[in-house]
Amino acid sequence: MFIPNNIQQVTHNAERLLIAERERYLQLHPSSIKLSKQAQQHFLYGVPMHWMNDWGMPVPLFVVQANGCHFTCADGIDYTDFCLGDTGAMFGHSPAPIEKVIAEQASKGFTVMLPSTLAPNVGEALAEFFGLDYWQLATTATDANRFVLRWARAVTERKKLLVFDGCYHGTVDDTMVDVENEKVVNRNSLLGQVYDLGVHTVAVPFNNLAAVEHELATGEFACLLTEPALTNCGMVLPEAGFIESLRAVCTKYGSLLVLDETHTISTDRGGWAKTNNVVPDFLVVGKPIAGGLPAAAYGFSAAMATRMKAAKDSAPAGHSGIGTTLSGSMMTLVAIYATLTEVATEVTYKHMLALADLLAQQLTASIKAHNLPWNITRLGARLELQFSSKPPKNAVEARDAKNDMIESAIHLYLLNRGVLLTPFHNMMLVCPATSENDIKKLMQVFNDCLKELMHD
Ligand SMILES: Cc1ncc(COP(=O)(O)O)c(C=O)c1O
Repeated sequence: MFIPNNIQQVTHNAERLLIAERERYLQLHPSSIKLSKQAQQHFLYGVPMHWMNDWGMPVPLFVVQANGCHFTCADGIDYTDFCLGDTGAMFGHSPAPIEKVIAEQASKGFTVMLPSTLAPNVGEALAEFFGLDYWQLATTATDANRFVLRWARAVTERKKLLVFDGCYHGTVDDTMVDVENEKVVNRNSLLGQVYDLGVHTVAVPFNNLAAVEHELATGEFACLLTEPALTNCGMVLPEAGFIESLRAVCTKYGSLLVLDETHTISTDRGGWAKTNNVVPDFLVVGKPIAGGLPAAAYGFSAAMATRMKAAKDSAPAGHSGIGTTLSGSMMTLVAIYATLTEVATEVTYKHMLALADLLAQQLTASIKAHNLPWNITRLGARLELQFSSKPPKNAVEARDAKNDMIESAIHLYLLNRGVLLTPFHNMMLVCPATSENDIKKLMQVFNDCLKELMHD
């Protein structure tokens, strides 16, 4: 083993490793290759959703079944899943209580566009779990964010939206911006976007309170929408007191604070805001709240509910532009209820947090032992490996820490040995079914991978 004095050498090794691992992947997955060819006859790129093709494998991996933190592919290989559907399966694949209620509800109807008798219990469970009194449901977190933006604009009668550079809140058009030469522009990868998003959206650097206050002071902003930590451009944690200060400046300038906790629900039971005693004007959750069934929700206070009703009641009758047919269906209500009351419990979180801590320690020790200038950032059950010596403070630093070649090589090396990480960055999530043995397996394969990357 040699100690690389520059990361270019590691990148060079990663390039070589990636070629070998692509070959190995193709040899291991004849059935996935066959399924991919078949699916290409009727699915764009041979996948149900085009970006399923953007994972780093040479051919998509076709899955037979997933349980707990494991799944099996079409070629009969078992994988330990640290991606967990990018948080959708954060409480494990098919947890028993959810499986049970879905099976029971299956013979009693899926959707009627009316509230089921379980509705009051679900409202109560959401209020207990997240600490906000009032709720509305949506089908995806993207939709929940979109609906909250509409409410925020209706309630404040202001048009502008403030977000952070590097944000991702689903495919909400208003948030799909980048900052180029200090100008807010449409993300250049967007397809079919005909509106200039920079007209109503402003993006500023995360952890920069002065930049936020400078914008909000104009009095033009309906809301500030953010995750408590940026989790989609690597992981950028808030500096101490940053989110609390956002709360204060939003109140000062009459803008609403919207916290998107779709990913930061990993923090602890109740999410980041409840754990840290910050009360947003709106809270958005999605992905795992129905165990991975399509469901999302947004919460708000009694005072906000009054303002929302006033906006709705004073509008002409007709489409509000908020809502979708299948949201709040009978099937999703049973799944949300079982998730919040039986699956995402104090005990479950305790297990997830303890194992995530163990994994963070072992990954950090491994990186140190290999003398690599990398770091592990953790938010509860969620961890991120980043190729910088210190955790990034904003999206610019997070982007600087990216190394696509090393990232791709690590992902494919691990996958070829039965360990799945989250694509597009290096996120690892620990679920209630994850065991010490699963951590041991990840660490063994990760250490072997680092040896390969450092080899002379
Ligand atoms: C923070 C955040 N909010 C919202 C979403 C959108 O979730 P969905 O794709 O389920 O609509 C995502 C998706 O990754 C996300 O990371």
